[in-house]
Parts: sequence; C-alpha cells; structure tokens
Amino acid sequence: MSEARSHTRSQELMARARRVLPGGTFGNVERETIISRGQGSRVWDGHGNEYIDYLIGSGPMIVGHAHPEVNDAVRRQLDQGTTFFATNPQGIDLAEIIIDAVPCADKVRYSASGSEADAFAMRLVRAYTGREKILKFEGGYHGYSDYGLMSLAPKNPGNSMEPIPDSPGIPAAIKDTVVIAPFNDADAVESLMKAHEGEIAAVFMEPLQRLIPPEPGFLKAMRELTLAHDMLLVFDEVVTGFRLAYGGAQAYYGVTPDVCTLGKAIGGGFPLAAIAGRDEVMALFDSERAEAGKFLPQFGTLSGAPVASVAGIATLNILNRPGTFDRLFETGNRLMTALAGKLDAAGFEAQVVGIAPMFDVVFAGGPILNHRDLLRGDAKLAARLNALLKERGVLKSSAKYYVSTAIDGSDVEQTIAAWDSAIDQLAAER
Ligand SMILES: Cc1ncc(COP(=O)(O)O)c(C=O)c1O
Repeated sequence: MSEARSHTRSQELMARARRVLPGGTFGNVERETIISRGQGSRVWDGHGNEYIDYLIGSGPMIVGHAHPEVNDAVRRQLDQGTTFFATNPQGIDLAEIIIDAVPCADKVRYSASGSEADAFAMRLVRAYTGREKILKFEGGYHGYSDYGLMSLAPKNPGNSMEPIPDSPGIPAAIKDTVVIAPFNDADAVESLMKAHEGEIAAVFMEPLQRLIPPEPGFLKAMRELTLAHDMLLVFDEVVTGFRLAYGGAQAYYGVTPDVCTLGKAIGGGFPLAAIAGRDEVMALFDSERAEAGKFLPQFGTLSGAPVASVAGIATLNILNRPGTFDRLFETGNRLMTALAGKLDAAGFEAQVVGIAPMFDVVFAGGPILNHRDLLRGDAKLAARLNALLKERGVLKSSAKYYVSTAIDGSDVEQTIAAWDSAIDQLAAER
C-alpha cells in the first residue's frame, strides 16, 4: 500500500458524480468514497489506492470480495438465466439452508432488500395479530420504510420516548402506529406494553442494536413479555444473521423469536433478503392456509432471483465450514483488543463497542446501553479518526468496522499499524 495516496482520478469521478447524482453520491456513504474494485479483504478507489476493507459493502461481503467459489456459482448461473420471477430450484435450495440454520425459520419468503423484508414483516405481524402498533427501540434500524425511520437516530430526543420521524415526508399519522422504547430496559418495555395493552402487534428489534449488545437476560425478557402480552417477537437479523453465528443472533444468544428478517450475507453480494418465521405466522403468505381476510399478498420483481440465491448459497456454505466463526471471532477480538489498548495508551476517554464480527470506537466513558448513551460519544473525534484511517489505507463506514473472513494476519497487523499512527495523530491534534 503506498503511503502517498493519489486522488486525481477520484476527483474527476467525484466531479462527474456531482453532475449526475444528488450530492454526488448514491446516498450511502460520503461522496469522497468511490470504490471501483474489490478482491478478498481489499478494495481500490477510483485511482487505484488500496484499502483494507471494513465497509464490505455494508455487510454482505462477509467472505471477502470476488470470492472464487461465489463467483463460480454466479458464472454458472448466468449461463442458465438471471431472473425468472417464478419460483426456482436455486431459491428452494437456499430456503432449505436457511431453515436448517436459523432456529425460528420454518418457512422463508424472499424480497430484494432488507428494508422490504422489514416492511413486509411489519405488515405480517399486524395482519396476524389484528393490531396496528409496532414497538421498536430508539436507535434501532429496520429499513427505510416510514415505520422503520421512526426514532432511528434522533439527535435531540426529548425526555420522553415520543416517536420522532428521521426524515421529512413521513405522514404524521405514522407516529400513532409506532411505540418507542429504550433498548436494554425491560421494565420500560413492560410499562409501555401495559399502557398500550391489546394494541401492539410485535416487539420489532435488532437483537444486537447497531453495535450495542443486549444486556444479559434482556432478550429473554422480550421473549417472555411478548408471550405474556400475546404479541409476536421479531428479530431484525439483516445484519446479525449468519454474522454473529451461522444461525444468527438467535442462535448466538439462545432466544428464538417468532419471525426474523435476513439480508446482506444471504444474498452473497446480490440483492436478496428474506422473512423467515414460525409456520403458523408465515401461513398468512399462503392463500390456501390463511384464514379468510388474512392472506397477505407478497411479491417483488427480483424476489428470489436465482443469481442472488446461488451467490448466497456459496457464501453460506463457506461460512458453515468448521472453524469459520471461531476464526472470525479470533480476528475481531484481536482487532478490538488492539484498538482499545491503543486508545487507552493515547489517553482518550473511549471504548470499543460491539462484538468481534462488528465493532467501533465510541469516544465516551460509562456504559453504552442504548441510543442516548451512544449520543454521549464525541462524533467529531470519531469522524476525524475515520478520515485519518482512510488516509492510511483502512476503509470503514461512519458507523462500524465489519470484519470479513478474508481479513488475515497481515491485514490485522497493517490495521493495527494504521491505528497506531492515526491515533497518535489524533492525540497530537488535541
Ligand atoms: C438491521 C437492519 N435492518 C434492515 C436494513 C435494511 O436493509 P437494506 O439496506 O438491504 O434495505 C439494514 C441495513 O443496513 C439493517 O442494518
């Protein structure tokens, strides 16, 4: 990796992008980040500068870029046709693999993105229970639907947990259909359930919210409270599925929801997501089994497209090999320990939040248990560190390091060297 990084061609690309794209971006990352190629643990920007990649396409490239087994599967499928709209054997194969792996999955229904899967799952639990409200946690992300963007990341949340839309353009009426709770606070959830008795269809949650792990007993409490109040429990496992463990967060933490949503890893880098759940709930997608008036139409042009299914199958097969998750955790733990040690040695009040397959720095002391604790973090320092790392050939999103199985010992060493230098620089700028 060259130290003097070149930016000329990237700047040309940025100028072209600004002419044709609002803000010069696709909206996902800042406009300065243009990636043109990926291989294994690395990506290259518009001018060929190389980066160790912890962005990994926002999660899907968990086995690294252009993995030969994934690419072979895709190449073979390309010659057989790309998408059929119709049910196909490739998608049936993938559904069988998901059902074997994921504890709550008796049946699987596909969509093309995690946001769609979440939106359908919200409709599913509402239809199943006949109740309109969804309980979600402040700071939890469930895709870009009007409901999913309620109190996703409110910067100035008031004292109460009023639902706050995170985008203009969301009808005011939506806030009456979403109940917001603080993550990791089972007592608060129980009070809200009592206050809205008979109105809430489901607790809809990321079992590990963004990077905040559940406190011991919290997920179990959610399972018990939802049962006690006749609601469903939905885990949004778009991120955690096939990442925290092969069976996802529900396998990792040993708590089984009624329904989960999956995305990212299951499409192996192609557009694919899924709703998976208990047979009785998923039966609402079956016109022959749903009670009168309860059948839920669900479709999408690219749902279950075979290219995505074969890429997903190849990815999951790699992840399912013995020792894969042990190695992913070893790599992540080594990185997290080194990062925390360096921040400490440099005298920052900071901590590394998350677990081995995904983590980040929060520049704040004290426990980080919910969204408001995260807001205590110094976002400017975090952004500056990210920028210093990018100059040193380490790429991540503004919000997290995603670890891939392609990260090897020398990637780890180079990352640690980049941290040493970037954190020293950050300390010098104080
Ligand atoms: C927890 C969670 N749910 C849903 C989504 C939405 O998935 P997609 O970007 O595929 O629409 C994301 C995306 O990052 C996510 O992190």
